[in-house]
Amino acid sequence: MPHIAVKDFKEFETPKRVGDFEFLWFAKPLKRAKETLVAVKKGNESFLLEIHKKGEKYIIKSDKITRISPLYVVKEALKTFCDEAKCQVLYDNLSTIKPSHAAKAKDYLKDIEFFINSFPKDKEVWIEVGFGSARHLLYQAQHNPDKLFIGIEIHKPSIEQALKQIALKKLDNVLLIDYDARLFLEFVPSNIVGKIFVHFPVPWNKKPHRRVISKGFIKESERVLKKGGTLELRTDSKAYFDYSLELFLDQKQVDLKVLKNIPNPVSSKYEDRWVRLGKDIYDIKMISSVISQELDTSYPFEFESVEFSTHLVDSFESTPRVYEDFFIHFEKLYQIDESKLLLELSFGSFDRPEHKYILIDKEGARYFPKKPVASGANIKAHKKIEELLNE
Ligand SMILES: C[S@@+](CC[C@H](N)C(=O)[O-])C[C@H]1O[C@@H](n2cnc3c(N)ncnc32)[C@H](O)[C@@H]1O
Repeated sequence: MPHIAVKDFKEFETPKRVGDFEFLWFAKPLKRAKETLVAVKKGNESFLLEIHKKGEKYIIKSDKITRISPLYVVKEALKTFCDEAKCQVLYDNLSTIKPSHAAKAKDYLKDIEFFINSFPKDKEVWIEVGFGSARHLLYQAQHNPDKLFIGIEIHKPSIEQALKQIALKKLDNVLLIDYDARLFLEFVPSNIVGKIFVHFPVPWNKKPHRRVISKGFIKESERVLKKGGTLELRTDSKAYFDYSLELFLDQKQVDLKVLKNIPNPVSSKYEDRWVRLGKDIYDIKMISSVISQELDTSYPFEFESVEFSTHLVDSFESTPRVYEDFFIHFEKLYQIDESKLLLELSFGSFDRPEHKYILIDKEGARYFPKKPVASGANIKAHKKIEELLNE
């Protein structure tokens, strides 16, 4: 991560435009916070820099919640800030951040906002959940150039590896996302997916709530699949197979195909290992037979009745609040000026919490810099946040 260590710096008047960057405001720690934040805007994107006092020096770096890519922009912002704040620089790692690598990776690696705002719909979509070594994903993409492949992974080294392979093979029909597949499906439009592959998912024998296959996942898969499309589970775990089959059969009406030890055109690293060990391989294929309702991702995430009051500061409480299927945690509070606050919070689903800031002033309240994604858990949490900020 790009950072600069400085002996000292001077705050300056905001807002201030310097070259491509506009420095909007400084936010000072008020409750449970230690660092000072600086809001920066470049084009349409805003993000925060964080100034952390460490012994005799300050470390200035990008804030994790609002971090933007490519990192090159953060590096430029840090340099510009330091020039303006007359930083007495001790050391930095900025020379290690190069523009070209980041730009290349960005073409294939997309964030959730990309899919929410402009989900590609010009080709039939095939999805692979937890692609691991990406052997299967890349084989399918090469052999089906008329389909768009979306690979979902949470293991960063696997993503890095796959990005290199995609560039090497010059594939133009693969996009990757670093996201929990169980939540990703919530943002996929209805009836556009031809296949969803879930190959050798982690069985999570001791933590079943972490399994990819669940009642909710099957329901969302059915919604995003086009009529005749398939959700394909392949596993070496008899226990996972039994667990999944029971869930599939829990549906009122379902078209299933079950296979045992039928080879695939390409086998993954895991499959090779299990076959060598003489293990059985099971497939369950669910064929969608419905046309589902269109998805609505346009929830506004606006606050109708929240505005600045000193009561917000006095009543600030940072204990997490846990509800049936979501939570809210007010984490830190910052002061921008005498009637403007910045609240740092996390909320939403337990598996994939949303981390955000809310700006609160006399005119009202709004998420900074972007609204949350419109998942069911986030919508419920948002309504509760509005209630809590009004108490
Ligand atoms: C056992 S590996 C199998 C990899 C690959 N499918 C294969 O057959 O070789 C399971 C993969 O799923 C990924 N994974 C686990 N949970 C996930 C989730 N909720 N969303 C996306 N990927 C997940 C893991 O990071 C891991 O790479």
